[in-house]
Amino acid sequence: MDTIEMTEKYVMKTYNRYPVSFVRGRGCYLYDENGKEYLDMLAGIAVCNLGHCHPEVTEAICEQAKELIHTSNLFHIKPQAELARLICENSFGEKVFFCNSGAEANEGAIKLARRYAFEKSKKGYEIVAFKNSFHGRTFASVSVTGQGKYNEGFGPMLSDVKFAEFNNLDSVKAVISDKTCGIIVEPIQGEGGIVPATEEFLKGLREIADEIDAILIFDEVQTGIGRTGKLFAYQHYNVEPDVMTLAKALGNGVPIGAIVAKGKAANVLKPGLHASTFGGNFLATAAGVKVIETVSKDEFLESVNEKGNYLKGKLLELKKEFPHIIESVRGMGLMIGVVCKMECGRIVEKALEKGLIINCTAKNVLRFAPPLIISEEEIDTGIRILKNILSIF
Ligand SMILES: Cc1ncc(COP(=O)(O)O)c(C=O)c1O
Repeated sequence: MDTIEMTEKYVMKTYNRYPVSFVRGRGCYLYDENGKEYLDMLAGIAVCNLGHCHPEVTEAICEQAKELIHTSNLFHIKPQAELARLICENSFGEKVFFCNSGAEANEGAIKLARRYAFEKSKKGYEIVAFKNSFHGRTFASVSVTGQGKYNEGFGPMLSDVKFAEFNNLDSVKAVISDKTCGIIVEPIQGEGGIVPATEEFLKGLREIADEIDAILIFDEVQTGIGRTGKLFAYQHYNVEPDVMTLAKALGNGVPIGAIVAKGKAANVLKPGLHASTFGGNFLATAAGVKVIETVSKDEFLESVNEKGNYLKGKLLELKKEFPHIIESVRGMGLMIGVVCKMECGRIVEKALEKGLIINCTAKNVLRFAPPLIISEEEIDTGIRILKNILSIF
């Protein structure tokens, strides 16, 4: 039985997978079982920001695996402490909690907001979230996800969640009250179609959260770790949240998530209130240390902006050439969405056949989230393949 047959037989069919099984990756390239090469402009959905098998991350993982992998959080863990320090020194954060995924980080952030309200004897436990958002698949995170398709048939959802319109402060004011304990928002909606928040909107949320003493949570699971050209997307906006959630690229492929908090939010989660067996173990945090050390360098982030502008420019040229297909190009850094005038699943399939990996989000948005180490030549290669494909539609 080959990999595809075994998957079909033994793995729960929760994904519609493409008929490809990769066996090796280097930098921006993946190789399948037949040796075919693919240019990866998706990076495992914004995870492998340093590319596949980045030599220093791989070395850090291998060295750590030879020494010690897991002890539990009953004891101190050196790379965990180092990673927490690096995150705090490079962000607004003062304290970090480690977990294993984005959904889990958001789950913990929502618990934190509710616990803060409990300790302040607030009048209620309502969370304000946004339509079209995506925060993960666990119960709390799917309950604050503003797209019905993700929670249909799983109800009842977490109670006391109110949805407002993204980038619309009036709609937030309409649902906010002294019962609100938290607001959760993505600085750029990822699964919702690469939709950046406006500065006015995030600043307005900050003011509202301050007025009613609620916890403002930025979900930076997809936007964090250099993806947008800053280490964290909030740094584009001159607004700091109380809590930021991270995952995806923090381990460059090793599962890890984090809740970063400051001020009134920093010490809400006390011993016994929240925990994770694997969270922040030696292996995951050793990878995370190398990732943050590399991505946080000014030259590295500058190069992300340059390459982001380069890719955006090339995509805008394609828009001119294919106005019947491409409506607009949006995003920040190397998190770019090409809004199409048609559903774009077929474009993604054709691209894969031709050795280019991209994906489709919100039905009609082609998502580009390549490894941040991509070169201009590699971008040119991707654009050439895409151009050939668009000419057949
Ligand atoms: C903004 C955002 N939050 C949370 C998640 C969930 O992360 P995970 O799949 O690691 O649970 C995702 C995943 O795509 C995401 O994009």
